[in-house]
Amino acid sequence: MRTFVYTAHPSRVVFGSGTADRLPDEVRRLGGSRVLLLSSPPLAEASGRVREALGALVAAEFDGAVMHTPVDVTERALSVLREAGADCLVAVGGGSTTGLSKALALRTGLPQVIVPTTYAGSEVTPVLGETRDGRKTTQSSPAILPEAVVYDVDFTLSLPPAMSLTSGINALAHAVEALYSADANPVTDGLALDAISRIARALPRLAADPADRDTRADLLHAAWLAGTCLATVGMGLHHKLCHTLGGSFDLPHAETHTVVLPHAMAYNAPAVPEVMRRIADALGVADAPGGVHDLVASLGGPTSLRDLGMPESGLARAAELATATPYPNPRELTTEGIADLLTGAWHGRRPEGPATTRTKLARLTEQVVASFAQAPDPRVGTLLSDLVRHLHTFVAANDVTDDEWQYAIDFLTRAGEITGPTRQEFVLLSDTLGVSSAVDLLTNSRTPTTTPSAVLGPFYVAGPPEAAHGSDIAAGLPGIPLWADVRVTDTDGKPVKDAVVDVWQSNKDGFYDVQLPDLDGPVLRARLRTDADGRLTFWSILPSPYPIPEDGPVGRMLAGAGRHPYRAPHLHFMIDAPGHRRLVTQLFVAGADYLDSDTVFGVKDELVVDFTPHTGPTPDDRTVEGEWRRLDYTFRIAPLAD
Ligand code: BEZ
Ligand code: FE
Repeated sequence: MRTFVYTAHPSRVVFGSGTADRLPDEVRRLGGSRVLLLSSPPLAEASGRVREALGALVAAEFDGAVMHTPVDVTERALSVLREAGADCLVAVGGGSTTGLSKALALRTGLPQVIVPTTYAGSEVTPVLGETRDGRKTTQSSPAILPEAVVYDVDFTLSLPPAMSLTSGINALAHAVEALYSADANPVTDGLALDAISRIARALPRLAADPADRDTRADLLHAAWLAGTCLATVGMGLHHKLCHTLGGSFDLPHAETHTVVLPHAMAYNAPAVPEVMRRIADALGVADAPGGVHDLVASLGGPTSLRDLGMPESGLARAAELATATPYPNPRELTTEGIADLLTGAWHGRRPEGPATTRTKLARLTEQVVASFAQAPDPRVGTLLSDLVRHLHTFVAANDVTDDEWQYAIDFLTRAGEITGPTRQEFVLLSDTLGVSSAVDLLTNSRTPTTTPSAVLGPFYVAGPPEAAHGSDIAAGLPGIPLWADVRVTDTDGKPVKDAVVDVWQSNKDGFYDVQLPDLDGPVLRARLRTDADGRLTFWSILPSPYPIPEDGPVGRMLAGAGRHPYRAPHLHFMIDAPGHRRLVTQLFVAGADYLDSDTVFGVKDELVVDFTPHTGPTPDDRTVEGEWRRLDYTFRIAPLAD
């Protein structure tokens, strides 16, 4: 059982596209009627949009927000605020504008509405860092927490890709450190993992299309979640390092986060392997620190402190500063360890995690996948790569042993050995695993207005004997006589003439003719052609349930799984008509056994039909003693152009 403390910070969030229009309501909710609008010069367009949305509510503006929230700037803004008699703050921008808003709120008690334009996350934290004479002090208070945040995705669309990347990694850092924080709890864990996977998905998509609203929304959503983590739990080594490097070496904030994060993670990884595994899963990589490095490098982001202007000579001092005062971190902090970390970050080296089985497996998978990269047909490359990924995942997830894999190979070998002209064990395997029906469902989804298809099964024999309308394809075999009156139309209901319709089914005991060498076949299979009305008729017998062949490896698999081998009773059809798509399907007897547990998962509601019982006169005056059945069905087939 986990013991934890969780403190929620009350802030109201409005999220979406065009949500700036809700700003007047948000201001009035907070009792405001005279807004001081805060921004900075690069945000002229965004603040213009906010000004327009707020209209007459704007009493004054201050667009001088700068990094690190210097108190002299705050004091200038404060006099504008007082002069205007403002009763509410609205800030549009990133961490700097939010910082100014917080500083003003702390001094005046005014409510704040923040409109973020980056992924900094500070809009949901009760923390304020201010600088006075170049010295930074940080404080936390409920009075600092903004009352409302209006996330409007539209404001982030123009954030340049490079800044979006570093700002996104800044958010990622909040989520990562929340997971190994001393205050970690199930609520922030969930938020952090959600944020990490959103960021990992969104950043590459954003690089490809920076104006994609859904991607931007994903990233902004992640920034909010990650900011909430930052507000709720203490951060560790990574944030301490960034703070030190920013404060003492004047390195840019988001870029520093971007360079340092993979190295701080690699340092902490040995102390929190399980957390790193969860982060790796959320990122979709084998090794979390290496994965973050690769993500940044692949998107052209900064990977070395050298490139950010950090002097190599400063590394030792930075290591000392970062370890001078103790703070909670999962792994013990040593000056030499941190100096090594910083050296790696200065050079921009890829942090190598320990070579675990997991990372070796991932490397192996990638090697195999890479071997398909040059496949002349790209579809072949895609299918083989994905198959290999799934197989490797299966092997790893189930910790498959050598003996188990050998068993699988023997199984397939036996399937091959038993397969011949009248026995197809691989079809049986595909059918009993539901793969044939899965492919079939996809096929049906492409032509939803036609009669659904169903699996072919292993008992179709090409070129069955031609039969005339009204003839008996059961050739007198025992069973309840069945009169079939079938029509074929196109998807508009127009009759399709000259359609070639192959029909096949099992006998009363559940065997197909090909399974009975002593039978004088072919029987219970025939080819008929539709007339000018798209119609055909024939006599047969009522199909019965039957077990699929059980004497091979598939039968043993079913027995091993405790599954029965029965198919629900059905009649097979294969319909070919000029200019139309082939339809392979089955009609199932309504009310029969095994409809709910067909061993090949082939039953579809639309294919379950009445085989209506009758006695007495028959449609073609054939004499039948006792019960006979009647099947009426219209097949809809698709024109080839569909
Ligand atoms: C059949 O209906 O003929 C069949 C289909 C799949 C597996 C075995 C038999
Ligand atoms: Fe069948």
